Amino acid sequence: MSEDTRAPAAAGDSSDAAPTSDDRGGPIDIDGDQSDRPRPLPVIGNLHQITSDPLGFFDAARGRDLMAYRMFTDQCYVVAHPDGVQTVLVDDDETYRKGEMMRRRVGSLLGDGIFLAEGDDWHRQRATMQPAFYRDRITGYADAMIEASAAMADGWTDGQVVDVAEASSELTLAVLADTLLGIDPGSDRDVVARAADAIAARYDSRRVGAFLPEWIPSPTNRRYRNALGNLRRTIDRIIDDRRTAIEAGEGSGTDLLSMLVAATADGSMDDETLRDNVVTFLFAGHETTALGLTYALYSLADSPTEQASVLDAIDEFGDPADDPDGAAARDAFPAVDRVVDETLRLYPPVHVFFREPARPVELLGTQIPAGTVLAISPWTCHRDSRWWDEPETFRPDRWETRTEQGPKQETESKPPRPEYAYFPFGGGPRHCIGMRFALLELRLTLAVFLSRYRFEPVTETLSVTPSATLQPDGPVRLRVDSDRR
Ligand code: HEM
Repeated sequence: MSEDTRAPAAAGDSSDAAPTSDDRGGPIDIDGDQSDRPRPLPVIGNLHQITSDPLGFFDAARGRDLMAYRMFTDQCYVVAHPDGVQTVLVDDDETYRKGEMMRRRVGSLLGDGIFLAEGDDWHRQRATMQPAFYRDRITGYADAMIEASAAMADGWTDGQVVDVAEASSELTLAVLADTLLGIDPGSDRDVVARAADAIAARYDSRRVGAFLPEWIPSPTNRRYRNALGNLRRTIDRIIDDRRTAIEAGEGSGTDLLSMLVAATADGSMDDETLRDNVVTFLFAGHETTALGLTYALYSLADSPTEQASVLDAIDEFGDPADDPDGAAARDAFPAVDRVVDETLRLYPPVHVFFREPARPVELLGTQIPAGTVLAISPWTCHRDSRWWDEPETFRPDRWETRTEQGPKQETESKPPRPEYAYFPFGGGPRHCIGMRFALLELRLTLAVFLSRYRFEPVTETLSVTPSATLQPDGPVRLRVDSDRR
């Protein structure tokens, strides 16, 4: 696969070496050699490098512990050493909050829902929703996942060229709607798809506007606000319908949407937060998994040997549609799980997320003032040659087993790797609530598709761009071939 991995961004203002003071006037000690870090310019900081080559910017942090950068006048760091990631997410998680920058950036989208909530409010919300993600609930969704995947694959014809990015998004939205929300997306699918496109455009890191407030009346911001308005109206209708159904004693009332509606009835969640959470789940729950599926299919299509060995493994099991429970069982498809684990390493759908310390801290030997933005980048850590042999290469064979907590071990002979060299789902108490759901859906969908077709690349190069998630640069076209050998 040829894919865009760029050299560190070009130097800007060479007079600015490692920073000696932050915009609050306090001293900053930089641990390690920062002499070749991307240079900030006055006023805009590193914005020019981030927008001209966003992934190159995060690549520049590989091999370091912390990489200092500036967004306008704000001092920020990429936390590039797994031990630092573990401190922030796990060992000292109460000190590090989602923070102001995340709220400024995605607050209008995710509001007061679980993703941005802090403290007791977050604890309450997570406890309310957690039962929808218990292990047996998730495996209970296997039928729906297999059925939807089989219906999609059976609709393709031999030799057809499929845009797997579009197909994956349609599929994962349908599965999410059916399982966790208990709704038929029907004509609302277009509203969600338009909102997803508008979000991807608004947060496209190649645009300077992605880092500016959304009230600026640019066409992209206007389209974003309109699409979000339409989505909120659609969600309000969905919520009203569910309330009416619950009051009429209809439906089982056990899916996530019913749990959230029940929380508003007992006063533990207000109506706005309920709506913010439905937006959160619509996007966190379908876009990310769709991206994982897209990148897994492309990576396999682009690696015929890998694909052949996965096809063999699937043939041993047979069509998952004939045995959904068996297909959902742990260890049913280790070869497929390895593909999933490796795809999420090479193309982490959530390529970066942020934290801010609530008080001054020392992290990896560096003094960091309260409120400093820390970029936690799976993209950077997952492609760091300190922890990975051939980090740019798609090699499912590097994974051996999946533990209860997720993919952790691998076969290669590198020195023991720090745990947080791999964290596609984040870590600690705020790790992805949908991790098991996503892993099961990825496994089952891949197994269903590959039990029917072999995939061949039509799109020659997979090129990706960071937005709110790691987006493909355009359609990802694959040809489906029912002659699998
Ligand atoms: C391959 C698919 C997915 C990936 C790579 C992914 C990744 C992540 C990551 C990295 C975080 C942590 C963000 C942070 O710490 O700031 C997160 C949180 C979250 N994810 Fe996922 N996710 C995926 C699928 C899902 C699914 C299927 C759902 C729901 C059905 C979901 C819902 C959420 C929610 C609600 C949070 C916030 C949890 C909290 O703060 O308590 N995600 N996800």
